[in-house]
Amino acid sequence: MLHIVDHPIIRERLTQIRSVDSETSVFRHALHDVAHLLCFEVTRELDTVSTEVETPLKKTEGHALARPLVLVPILRAGVGLMNGFLEILTEASVGYIGLYRDEETLQPQSYYCKLPDHIAESEVILIDPMLATGGSAADAADELKKAGASRIRFACLIAAPEGVAAFEERHPDIPIYTASLDECLNENAYIVPGLGDAGDRYFGT
Ligand code: PRP
Ligand code: URA
Repeated sequence: MLHIVDHPIIRERLTQIRSVDSETSVFRHALHDVAHLLCFEVTRELDTVSTEVETPLKKTEGHALARPLVLVPILRAGVGLMNGFLEILTEASVGYIGLYRDEETLQPQSYYCKLPDHIAESEVILIDPMLATGGSAADAADELKKAGASRIRFACLIAAPEGVAAFEERHPDIPIYTASLDECLNENAYIVPGLGDAGDRYFGT
């Protein structure tokens, strides 16, 4: 269920994103570009239904997405990656899950959850750039399932092997899409080599 999305442009932009020398604007632009390319793979298996479309010349077969789309970024850093998805999936609804990682216990703390009413019949893409211990993403997926979602994909930029294992144990039904599977976590549960603190780098804080 782990999809590593490899593409030359993703590799090049990810290098800019990782670099300690990249300013906020470079980081943001590169993250948006990667989001566009990730979006292509994350949505590849979505079901479509046949429709009919009339061109100026004749009627022909068309296609429509079988179900509504819901994007759910995990606040804060998920917003950065989600913006690129939303530029492609302009028809999607957006829900928000607010979690932050307690610096001492490393456990995710929930502070906000607002999801669209039609989430149960939708295709849901949960979005967070970092899958470190996996606690935040797994708790967010719990919230989505509690709200009735059953068709969920998780999109991230960088994953640690520890986070993938923890997430897959709690949510074996949810595929993970990532641009990179990094080496490991350090003693503070930061991804190595990673990019540092995703929220701070995207928001310039
Ligand atoms: C970061 C990141 C994830 C979480 C990943 O958020 O955006 O949500 O850490 O860590 P985990 O896999 O170990 O749970 P952070 O807690 O720094 O909050 P922020 O986005 O508000 O900065
Ligand atoms: N959160 C981040 O922003 N970066 C990491 O490496 C781990 C968790």
